[in-house]
Amino acid sequence: MGETEQRYADEAFSTNWVSTVGPNLGAFEKAFSDRIGLPAVCLSSGTAAIHLGLILLGVGPGDEVFCSTLTFAASANPIRYQGATPVFMDSDRESWNLDPQLLSDVLRTRAATNRLPKALIVVDLYGQSADMDPILEICGRYGVAVLEDAAEALGATYKGRPAGSAAPVSAYSFNGNKIITTAGGGMLTAQDQALADRARFLATQARDPGIAYEHSVTGYNYRMSNVLAGIGRGQMEVLDLRVQQRRAIAFRYRDAFADLPGISLMPQARYGLHTNWLSCFLVDPAQFGCTRDGLLRHLDSRDIEARPVWKPMHLQALFADCQVYGGDVAADLFRNGLCLPSSSNLGLLDQGRVIDAVREAAGAPVLSEGIAEVVVA
Ligand SMILES: Cc1ncc(COP(=O)(O)O)c(C=O)c1O
Repeated sequence: MGETEQRYADEAFSTNWVSTVGPNLGAFEKAFSDRIGLPAVCLSSGTAAIHLGLILLGVGPGDEVFCSTLTFAASANPIRYQGATPVFMDSDRESWNLDPQLLSDVLRTRAATNRLPKALIVVDLYGQSADMDPILEICGRYGVAVLEDAAEALGATYKGRPAGSAAPVSAYSFNGNKIITTAGGGMLTAQDQALADRARFLATQARDPGIAYEHSVTGYNYRMSNVLAGIGRGQMEVLDLRVQQRRAIAFRYRDAFADLPGISLMPQARYGLHTNWLSCFLVDPAQFGCTRDGLLRHLDSRDIEARPVWKPMHLQALFADCQVYGGDVAADLFRNGLCLPSSSNLGLLDQGRVIDAVREAAGAPVLSEGIAEVVVA
């Protein structure tokens, strides 16, 4: 957080706009919309954005919704909120995101038996866009609606365009761990202004026009507060800096592990800019000399918090009854992948501690003296 975020939040207090209406909301939406190039609606969370997005796409009870299996549960839970059925899809190794070839094969088979899903939720994982062009083309061919879960990919690009801008409806998150944050919050973007207006209406309890409290459809209390929108407004001004900081950390780790066999940074697909929101690495235990879990334990023994890559949805007890297409790639990324400390404010010395601990686990010489020199210099 910086002074600008504080100033906008203070303005909400001093002007008494402590509500789900107020000038910060409009200003945050405008800044976001200018950045993505689409109408944007401030919401209380990314999960709310996915939920409203599914409603906008007409998903309801009995529908099937395809969803990337390698993701956080919040991508898939709203499918269930709508009484629909999730069906999970594997990743490819090149981007760790949804495999377009698999999607194409499955939709062709499904079309032949008239069992097409209503929609697809495609996730942009860990700061990198999925390969949207083929995915949109395939879904367009079969009339499958697309929602892009760009919760983790604000600041990333796909073929020069902002991640999330290619899909008819997209969701972003400002949860505390995201590249920019409002403590908690989300944004929905839509290519069609009428859909964005509908999302705003549904997010404010779907009150019909006029001063009387008349309602004709079910609404939600999903609007962001004007105080938090002030934080978001300020955070938009540092988004590019945050992207640079996250990428610098990931590339520092990558370079410091360059001489170690069996550990590699999440691939950077050629079609866009990966923010490296989290610094994710894949371990090959045979080459690295230690399993992913062994590495996590070693980091923990050095008081360094690291995490496994998301546990795929098709391996979760919650979704045990759901169909999955493929799944082995995501399962392997989960088994051998980990996220190293990645906060934008992680200092050089702390990065050095992480590097040394990973090198220790591999039985390689540590670099800490060199790092101390860098810091002093
Ligand atoms: C891929 C993904 N989708 C959705 C969400 C949900 O966002 P929120 O926490 O703002 O509800 C998150 C993060 O929390 C996420 O990582």
